[in-house]
Amino acid sequence: MPDTGTSDAFVAFERVQKSYDGETLVVKDLNLTMPKGEFLTMLGPSGSGKTTCLMMLAGFETATHGEIKLDGVSINNIPPHKRGIGMVFQNYALFPHMTIAENLSFPLEVRKIGKSDREAKVKRALDMVEMGDFGGRRPAQLSGGQQQRVALARALVFEPELVLMDEPLGALDKQLREKMQFEITDLAHKLGITVVYVTHDQTEALTMSDRVAVFNDGRIQQLAPPDELYEAPQNSFVAQFIGENNTLEGVITEIKGNTCTVKLDGGEMIDAQPVNVTKVGERTRVSIRPERVEVNKDRLQEGAHTLKAKVLEFIYMGDIFRTRLSVAGNDEFVIKTRNAPDQVRLKPGEEIEIGWLPEDCRALDAF
Ligand SMILES: Nc1ncnc2c1ncn2[C@@H]1O[C@H](COP(=O)(O)OP(=O)(O)OP(=O)(O)O)[C@@H](O)[C@H]1O
Ligand SMILES: [Mg+2]
Repeated sequence: MPDTGTSDAFVAFERVQKSYDGETLVVKDLNLTMPKGEFLTMLGPSGSGKTTCLMMLAGFETATHGEIKLDGVSINNIPPHKRGIGMVFQNYALFPHMTIAENLSFPLEVRKIGKSDREAKVKRALDMVEMGDFGGRRPAQLSGGQQQRVALARALVFEPELVLMDEPLGALDKQLREKMQFEITDLAHKLGITVVYVTHDQTEALTMSDRVAVFNDGRIQQLAPPDELYEAPQNSFVAQFIGENNTLEGVITEIKGNTCTVKLDGGEMIDAQPVNVTKVGERTRVSIRPERVEVNKDRLQEGAHTLKAKVLEFIYMGDIFRTRLSVAGNDEFVIKTRNAPDQVRLKPGEEIEIGWLPEDCRALDAF
């Protein structure tokens, strides 16, 4: 029977704040709970506090305020060797004087695991990352990607319940990176490991995670599954940060249930869904994904507002067409249409009308 509330949380940050200098907060009021087995990614710009959060969870930094709990117990009360946390960092510091097998054996020796048991676990961990034949080599005799895989095996060899990874694939080329993305999520799910993953790469975050926490300025801006983040951003920062996005600015002139009318700064009227706005007269920045813009007026609702647009650029991309438009003073307005037999190919200079369903256009904060 699952518990209710936060008591079943495996990892919990409760009102956590962190200051390194006693003045500025680099983590501001962080609240986050994770169930066991979840793969959660912290995504956000440089300096937004991601590594700091991992360091506090690992116990290398202490929170200035608030509490971090692991399986219901405050992390301060758990000695490091009993935390059962595996870690992989961007600079995957393997011990250079030890062989690969010795590197993996080390965390097991620290935990007083017997020799034959150790050997079996090391072999299994190396096989898991397809490095079984490399146990006798030293780190300097491996490629960067192979070292990265060994670092991953070393973090998993003692079967931790929680693994923290800070940009673990940063040094790899695209192909190996994608292979490792799959291997990491596959392993985590197979072994039931809870993972907190940090990356700059939004595609990586969206493809690997159960949930993504978007960080900015020491706060979680939104915490949601990938599809929800992309399709239902709760504020302008998230809408801009995740995926490609068109924005138009204006003032709310009417709110009626799930729809509002926005008067754009150039005077045009559009329909949107009120998300992060509350009242008439408020400034807003509306957000529309490129694939949700309709160029075929017949497909729009009766009475829907449309906008005049001028085609600036047409790019054939094979599966889709990417067309850049000038819309209400915005020359970077991009639409994406599927390459279907009946799809029109717009030409630069052409004047068209565009529209959208109100639910596909989100009225957000003007920040
Ligand atoms: N040991 C430290 N002493 C003082 N300030 C620090 C320390 N570590 C980090 N900071 C500051 O805290 C803020 C958050 O840093 P953090 O490393 O958590 O960011 P991040 O989100 O991991 O960034 P990046 O994506 O660049 O790795 C930054 O302004 C950074 O300069
Ligand atoms: Mg960092």
